[in-house]
Amino acid sequence: MAKLITVESAELSDFLSQKNDQEKYCKELEEGNILFFPTCPFAFPKDHLEFLLAQRQTAAANRKNIAYKPQSDKITNFMRTSEAQENELLHIMRNYSKQSVDFLSKVLAPYAEKWKLDYASFRPFQEKGRQLRTRARNDLLHVDSFPTRPMHGNRILRFFTNINPTESRKWITTEPFGALAAKFGGTMDMPFPKGMSHSPLSKLARMSKKAAKGLGLPVTLRSPYDVFMLGLHNYLKEDDDFQKNCPKDYWEFPPNCCWAVYTDQVSHAAIGGQYALEQTIVVPYSALVQPGSAPLATLEKLTGKPMVDPIFAGSR
Ligand SMILES: [Fe+2]
Repeated sequence: MAKLITVESAELSDFLSQKNDQEKYCKELEEGNILFFPTCPFAFPKDHLEFLLAQRQTAAANRKNIAYKPQSDKITNFMRTSEAQENELLHIMRNYSKQSVDFLSKVLAPYAEKWKLDYASFRPFQEKGRQLRTRARNDLLHVDSFPTRPMHGNRILRFFTNINPTESRKWITTEPFGALAAKFGGTMDMPFPKGMSHSPLSKLARMSKKAAKGLGLPVTLRSPYDVFMLGLHNYLKEDDDFQKNCPKDYWEFPPNCCWAVYTDQVSHAAIGGQYALEQTIVVPYSALVQPGSAPLATLEKLTGKPMVDPIFAGSR
């Protein structure tokens, strides 16, 4: 089961001031633990907080989180009420994204040169009782997998901040990734993907797909790894018996705390809480400090087959 690794402010400043053992917190994350910072380690201005708490997303039919894309410096999925409101929201999300990435680049320094920034999000909804279709529900245990953005063994690292002034964000987690993959993988309902065919024809088909993607066509290049991870995400959410009866740990993340976790590895569910900020970072497999603990390595051990396609992913 996942452990909560609490990093108190004094320990954090010690770590940041000395230069040895830079891999310490990367290792904790890669072993499937949650890094917990009891107080937000960077300044989050009071007026930013008040502005975010006042945002309303109730009219959004699909009730999506507000997203900030650092690469294009744009926000999406928000209810626009005026140009000034849009500019302020953009300013706040940009600031949060930058501060959290700056912070993580010190705590997880071995990753920082190779990682790729993904979206930041503002989660204004109450998670308890939130009405979503089954596969989109956050309150069912799952591992993260992006349906339209295959990872090819690279990792989904997420950093969260609970900005609710009074209410904790509540999570549950269950058994480690390896145990879940061994239990459900390779069964009738959750077969392991077939290994890649190395026939010249299959290779040619994959290269054509890659070329089509390069031309901007809407093609998704999935490796067996991605097929399995998305399958596991869906399977776990749809298995009532698993959701009810699996062993569970309950976590409470109080106001103004932060936590980081590999959400593609640690099965999790958000069962309560409202108003959180989050920054996603994609950590390449090649940047991991102990790649043997990664879901890709676990799956390759279980199946005895390569699970990523070098044509799609490049060599790792
Ligand atoms: Fe998730």
